[in-house]
Amino acid sequence: MKITVAISGASGVVLGKRLVEFLKSDANKTKYEVHLIVSDAAKEIAGYEEVDLAHARGLADYCYDEDDIEAGISSSSYGIDAMVVIPCSMKTLSAIANGFAENLIDRAAENVMKTGRRMVVVPRDTPLSLAALENMIKLKSAGALIVPPVMAYYYKPETIDDVTDFFVGKVLDALQIEHDLYNRWCGVK
Ligand SMILES: Cc1cc2nc3c(=O)[nH]c(=O)nc-3n(C[C@H](O)[C@H](O)[C@H](O)COP(=O)(O)O)c2cc1C
Repeated sequence: MKITVAISGASGVVLGKRLVEFLKSDANKTKYEVHLIVSDAAKEIAGYEEVDLAHARGLADYCYDEDDIEAGISSSSYGIDAMVVIPCSMKTLSAIANGFAENLIDRAAENVMKTGRRMVVVPRDTPLSLAALENMIKLKSAGALIVPPVMAYYYKPETIDDVTDFFVGKVLDALQIEHDLYNRWCGVK
């Protein structure tokens, strides 16, 4: 399965890093061909948030900058199966929702959307503007799955890593990829 993981300039770049680490873990590394795009803003935010993206870059099969518009994934003929934008800034959300393919993230997303492949968006902002809400409705109407990083308490997280794994686990659920990153609710016994 060929998956594009795009890290855009929203808080929580660690989520994209963790997703790549899961997809290229020893148990999974031959199952998924990972194409990693990191936007310029995401690189800056990684600095502020003290997230080292070098490890994820080393694990990914292909790495791109946002202006690598000649990359294979710039064409729908490349045949990407699924794409995740994690985290997704409100700017990139708007670009994808409105077909404004200004950089490789927007263009790769356009290709995935127009060919009806699985598209997962992890929008991060609070509070949400009307434009952001409308853009999410547009994307949902076009078949994307909107998976915002929203906390839950029922699984009793103890560390920030637990919270990160919960968010990434929800993305893997959306991709229909098995994982054990969080404890599922199993009902009251
Ligand atoms: C420290 C920092 C945190 C930011 N967090 C967010 C965020 O959570 N959500 C968001 O939509 N934009 C956020 N921004 C603003 C975006 O980075 C900015 O709109 C940028 O142009 C997005 O570019 P990109 O979508 O091409 O990566 C943040 C900026 C900085 C400097």
